[in-house]
Amino acid sequence: MKKVLLGVTGGIAAYKSAELARYFVRGGAEVQVVMTPDALQFISPLTFQTLTGRPVYIELYSEASEKIRHIELLKDIDVFVVAPATANSIGKMAGGIADNLLTTLYLAAECPVVVIPSMNINMFEHQAVTGNLEKLCSYGCHVMDPDSGELACGVYGRGRMPEPQDIYNYTRAVLTAKDFKGLKALVTAGPTREHLDPVRFLSNPSTGLMGYSLARALKERGAEVTLISGPTHLQTPSGIDNVAVTTGEDMYNAVFEHYKDCDLIIKAAAVSDFRPLQVAADKVKKNDLLSTLELAKNRDILLELGKEKGKRIFVGFAAETNDAVQNAHDKMLKKNLDLIVVNNLKEPGAGFAVQTNRVSIIDRSGEVENLPMMEKEHLAHRILDRTSKFFPVS
Ligand code: CTP
Repeated sequence: MKKVLLGVTGGIAAYKSAELARYFVRGGAEVQVVMTPDALQFISPLTFQTLTGRPVYIELYSEASEKIRHIELLKDIDVFVVAPATANSIGKMAGGIADNLLTTLYLAAECPVVVIPSMNINMFEHQAVTGNLEKLCSYGCHVMDPDSGELACGVYGRGRMPEPQDIYNYTRAVLTAKDFKGLKALVTAGPTREHLDPVRFLSNPSTGLMGYSLARALKERGAEVTLISGPTHLQTPSGIDNVAVTTGEDMYNAVFEHYKDCDLIIKAAAVSDFRPLQVAADKVKKNDLLSTLELAKNRDILLELGKEKGKRIFVGFAAETNDAVQNAHDKMLKKNLDLIVVNNLKEPGAGFAVQTNRVSIIDRSGEVENLPMMEKEHLAHRILDRTSKFFPVS
């Protein structure tokens, strides 16, 4: 997504579009904002100008420019996102009415168009609006479902503009090549928890972000995804089956229940290597704890799965502190993997509980691809770029 045209119409949710513009800018896009005259009632063009570093256009005709503005503004645009899209602007777009710059741009646009309806529930459910949205879909627009929740008018219901991050993800999904279409993928994520008693457990600092980012990226690229996740605070990306587990043993059972018809298995989970031999049903007094604590080794899920690999592609992870590449390569062969993603925990910005990671991807031939530090969200796509080579498009 290099160039985004962001169209803002006159709804109360227009204030959220400022945050949306920031998401696009942070994602590396050049953002051009156009507003309807009514949108000026809700937010100042200066806000967008400051966030995007570009002037905001509102008027269809300008004495300052001799060029035909609507054609000029659409040059090289990858996607046109209309957020919020009011019932009025949706009606004009569906009816081919071009009475302001934004609606004129819609008619002239050749790029994908994303429409984010946002309005009161009664308006959203009126046949006139549902009919217009259906029309826009039939014209090839991508219409995102609004959220349910408290609306600006004080009523609860559907019609609320989704959160900017969700709109950003939706738009990215619209533009992403579907190179995993037709494939079934299983992803594991997060830590496992091994309880000693109801109030104490063994675990690790994994937040699950890498696994969730991979699951979302796979879904965006067309795969059918099952996510088996230990306890995390993350929201399951939409359209993904989430199987929630707690212990390493739970995860083992869930993986063996779901792996059979999968083409691709990515094990990003940080499984506890040990569990207490006994789990006490009642809280153990601290003075008794050390004398009763005995650990047992958890089964290695990937190692066991590697024995039943078949034609499936397996991607594993390794977090190392010493001889990272060599250790990871040995793990890959031992666990019968096709790729292993290794990060050196001693490097700043790499590893657990951070938004970023710096990894190397190693294949069975020993070829090492060293990637620069990047957000896990972007890293997920780079890992999939490498993985997609195992699934040549026929
Ligand atoms: N893994 C697994 N089951 C386990 C432990 C690990 O499936 N019980 C998987 C992880 O999901 C990861 C890979 O194996 O994809 C490597 O995990 P890691 O903890 O780095 O390796 P270990 O085999 O546990 O080796 P060690 O702790 O000795 O480095």
